[in-house]
Amino acid sequence: MIVATTIEQLRDALAAGKKAATGRGGKGEVGLVPTMGYLHEGHASLLQRARLENDVVALSIFVNPLQFGPNEDFARYPRDAERDLAIARKEGTDVVFMPDVTVMYPRPSQTTVSVSGLTESLCGASRPGHFDGVATVVSKLFHLFDPDRAYFGMKDAQQVAVVRQMTDDLNFRVRIVPCPTLREPDGLAMSSRNVYLSPEEREQALVLSRALGRVDGWLAEPGITGARLRERIVDTIGTAPLAVVDYVEAVTYPGLLPAGDWQPGDGTPLLLALAVKFGRTRLIDNKLIE
Ligand code: PAF
Repeated sequence: MIVATTIEQLRDALAAGKKAATGRGGKGEVGLVPTMGYLHEGHASLLQRARLENDVVALSIFVNPLQFGPNEDFARYPRDAERDLAIARKEGTDVVFMPDVTVMYPRPSQTTVSVSGLTESLCGASRPGHFDGVATVVSKLFHLFDPDRAYFGMKDAQQVAVVRQMTDDLNFRVRIVPCPTLREPDGLAMSSRNVYLSPEEREQALVLSRALGRVDGWLAEPGITGARLRERIVDTIGTAPLAVVDYVEAVTYPGLLPAGDWQPGDGTPLLLALAVKFGRTRLIDNKLIE
């Protein structure tokens, strides 16, 4: 496994990886898993999928300041490079890119990649500028790695929709591969931010997966709609005294249009998406009904 901290090292490592793969009779295809580090089993599952589908598995670890608001958790975002590298090695990663902020942004940038429409609701409404930061860094990573495939977890369903739209609009040749959300045994969606939760907050945060887990039962009720599913989720979350709802929405997927009138059998996928704070920690989760 080669660990690159500069763009030159990254390009050399990718070229060497592709050359070795083609020398072995492979196609030299590159699968990229972009992350902000503090890896968990969800990230490991993305690396495993990338390992299955590509000759060269590449991982980026970069806590991207552009996607954090001024009062958000950029400074305290959890970091553990040694542990991340051990996980990457265990999953058979070929190339890890761990740049400093000065490598990714060596001078004040005058270019922002901004996806309209899809970024105006859900996390885009609560975190102004967040998706500009994501789209800008992901497009830089796509230019640097030129991957054949890029792997993203569906816990960030809006991010997947935004990255897909950007990829299509800007003619990146990469294929975006959405991967299922991994959960802890008790149901909590895996997230690097779970480490912030106190034991009491973590216990109460289980209400999120409990609410989403009830959706299949509610779907069987006559006359159920997107709006009613949303209300039921809000009511369930309301049983946890520490939960402060940022949003709970029923929207179409991947278009993210309001879907209060949605009914089972409509033929349009429905995304039930939520963001809820427990203390200072904001958690997101969702359920996609396809
Ligand atoms: O999902 C994340 O970890 C980040 O938003 C990403 C895609 C690595 C961009 O910084």
